[in-house]
Order: sequence, then C-alpha cells, then structure tokens
Amino acid sequence: MPRAPDASALAALKAAAGQGGWLDSDADVEPYRSDFRRLYRGATPLVLQPADTEGVARVLALCRRERIAVVPCGGNTSYCGGATPDESGAQVVLSLRRLNRVRHVDPADYSMTVESGVTLAAAQAAASAHDRLFPLSLGSEGTAQIGGNLSTNAGGTAVLRYGMMRDLVLGLEVVLADGSVLHGLKSLRKDNTGYDVKSLFIGAEGTLGVITAATLKLFPAAKDSATALVGVATPQAALDLLAHLRAAAGDTLSTFEIMPRFAVELTVRLVAGVADPLGMDAAWYLLVELTSPNPEAGLAAVLAESLGAAVERGLVADALIAASLAQAQAMWKLRESVPEAQRRYGASLKHDVSVPISALPRLIEAGCALVERLVPEGQVIGYGHLGDGNLHFNVSQRPGTDAAAFLARGPALEEAVFDLVEGLGGSISAEHGIGRLKAGELARRADPVELAVMRSIKAALDPDGILNPGKVLAAPR
Ligand code: MLT
Ligand code: ZN
Repeated sequence: MPRAPDASALAALKAAAGQGGWLDSDADVEPYRSDFRRLYRGATPLVLQPADTEGVARVLALCRRERIAVVPCGGNTSYCGGATPDESGAQVVLSLRRLNRVRHVDPADYSMTVESGVTLAAAQAAASAHDRLFPLSLGSEGTAQIGGNLSTNAGGTAVLRYGMMRDLVLGLEVVLADGSVLHGLKSLRKDNTGYDVKSLFIGAEGTLGVITAATLKLFPAAKDSATALVGVATPQAALDLLAHLRAAAGDTLSTFEIMPRFAVELTVRLVAGVADPLGMDAAWYLLVELTSPNPEAGLAAVLAESLGAAVERGLVADALIAASLAQAQAMWKLRESVPEAQRRYGASLKHDVSVPISALPRLIEAGCALVERLVPEGQVIGYGHLGDGNLHFNVSQRPGTDAAAFLARGPALEEAVFDLVEGLGGSISAEHGIGRLKAGELARRADPVELAVMRSIKAALDPDGILNPGKVLAAPR
C-alpha cells in the first residue's frame, strides 16, 4: 500500500525531478487539484515535472522505493477525473508537460516519434510540416497531450476512417513502476514477436506505467476535401445515409457526426461566432466530410451526387455542401462547440457510450424515454460520432428547474442508461475512459474473468499499487 511522503521523501523527489522539475506553491499546484469537469477536488503536496524520460524514471524508482502514489497528468482534459489526485494529500502528481519534443518525423516510413507532453495539435502540425497527416482529431486538441490521448485511447471525429489512438500507434517508450524503461519505439507495421506489450499501456490511464514517448502512424496529407451539413428526420435515416455514403465514397468518408436540432440551436445561441449555415428545421443534423490525398479526387462532385441521390431516396431533408474553406470551418465550429454550449447552458449529466451502429436508433429512443421517466428537469442532448456507434448521451438541466434535484437524479439515470447500453451489446465508456468516475461501474459490470485478468496485469506491473491508484480499477471490496 502506498503511504504519504514525508519531508525527506519530498526533497528526494524534487532532486530526482531535476532543475525546474517540480512545483509546490499553492498557486502553482492549484490547476492540478481538480479535473476539467470539476467533478473532483483533490490534494497534493507536490507536482513533479521532469524534463526527460530519465527524470521520469528517477521519480518512479524513488516512488516505488518509498511507496509513494503517483498520478500522471497530461493536458488535464479528462472527463473522468483520470488525472486528478485523491483527497488524501498523499499522492504526488507527475506532469509530462515538459516532455514536449517532436523527436523525429519520418515521411518515408509514414511515422513520427513524439514525447508524451506534445499537444495533439502540435503533433498534427509536425506531421503536416512534412506533408503527412496525423489523423486523430478532437475538440480539446490544443490542450490535450499525446500521453493522455494514448492513456485514454482517445477517439474523436476521424475514427470512422482511421481508428482510435490505439490503431495509430507503432511503438511506445514507457517507464514502469520500478523506474525501468521499456524502449519500444519501433516503427514497424509488422512485428509478431510475442505479446503486444505496448497495447497494455494504451487506455490504461497511467495505472500500469507512464508513457513517455510514442511512434505514431502517419498518412498522406489530405489534398482534397468536401464537407457538408445534412438534415435528416430520424436517426435511422442517418444510419441509412451512412451506408449510402460508404458505398458511394468508400474510404474517403472520414467524418460522420450527428447532432440533434436542440444542440444546434443551443450552440448558435450560446457560443460566439457560431452560425447555422443550413438554417433549416431538420430534427437531426449531420456533419459529413470526405477527404483524399488525391487533389483530383473531385470529392465535392462525389458528395453532391451521392447526397442528391439520397434526397431522391427520401433519406435527406436538406443538405449544404461547403462552398469554401471558411464555410467548412463554420460547419466544424458548429459541431465542435456543442460541448461548450452545453456547459454554458447549465448542469449536465453525461454518458459517453457506444453500441453496435445499427442499435443507435434504439438507444436514442429508449434513452429519451428513460430521461422522460427519471429526470423531469432534464432535456436530452445526444450527439457524437454516429459513424462509430458512439453517442454522447448527455442530459442538460432545463432552465428554471432545481439544479440540486436535477443532479440528484444522475445516479439512477446512469444506472438505467448503462443497463440499456449493456442490453444493446454496448460499452459504458466509448472514448473518454474510466478514470475515477466509472471505476466502480467497471468493477460491477465487467466480465468477471476479464476483470480478474486486468487485476493480474495490474498486480504484475505495479505490485505496490503506486500508479494512479483508484483509477480504472477500483479497490476490491
Ligand atoms: C465530443 O465529441 O464533442 C466530446 O468527446 C464530448 C464532449 O466534449 O462532450
Ligand atoms: Zn466525442
């Protein structure tokens, strides 16, 4: 069991982290005490921020020896409290923000090696500077860091075509709980030498080791694109359109996002600079994008033709294809501002869930019925990555209702939504991870054999339980 660090352990940790490698003033530590959603407020005596892998290794070796719990932290954008220390004041935070070098971009290998503290936006820019694409894309990419993206197996808006973060990794460098360094920065597409060890650390939220660098897959840069906002009447029509566009556009279809009319209205009303370029009345809006490395791909024509055919088939109520880059950006801004609009609107209950794509209409219909029955103060805003079967089935508090009463209904609704999702063969965490928020639910709902395997892996790699305790795997009862 970890224990609270005493003064000499804290001094040794500072020395291990090196010059400029720690923060302990109240003001400096404050941002690390709480999570992005302000669900938790923890305490910590020290934030360590070593500048390199060796510094991380020294810190972890010491933590292992002294049995000090460590909470790794990237851009602190977790929705599940995955990077926040607990309330004990005994856990130190390990920020990876100074490991922010792009070590190597190799256009010929279609790979690049970046450190964990590089922001996702900086990683994208590094690839772009070499005429390559790093395709992971999400709203918080200016702040979220590669280490956090890896540790939560982040998704975003291009998963339909390129997969999640796990699918984009060729190799990892990881510091283990005893301070040893796993040097796995290979750029191989094929490597069948035993267990896929790197995969263990992806989505593990820093509970099995601390990722310090990654070799990531790159793709040809996009040279042609076509973006559209499309209005449809029902989620089933959206699904039918997805199949129609996949057939027409093949792999060029990279984004297929869904938003209800209410989300659009809210976003236009509450976020400056957002407009509804479609100005239509459809119940559901879709953001659709095709991209290709071929500048002659003629994607605007492909999209226009296939959407035209979809209108004729009665799948689409109305559609607007962006006529300029600015118009495409406005469509993206509309979609990416939905979470911010929801935050501004008031309190919310969030469920990041996935189901087989064909079950999405059922999830939406049955989920809305649950909210009607269980949360009279609530208003559903279910939006997200329809092409991946991932819905952010969120519920906002209606104006004029009581916030405390609304929030008090959260646990009962969550239970019902998770039961529904499980009944549909889905997952209670699609892309935001488990963190502290869902550790209890994972322990309750995971297949017992799978959970036992997870606990065995944790015990093997972190026998003293110093790595991000209480995240992903709740303490057994
Ligand atoms: C999104 O897709 O916008 C995010 O994953 C969910 C959110 O920020 O609510
Ligand atoms: Zn999302």
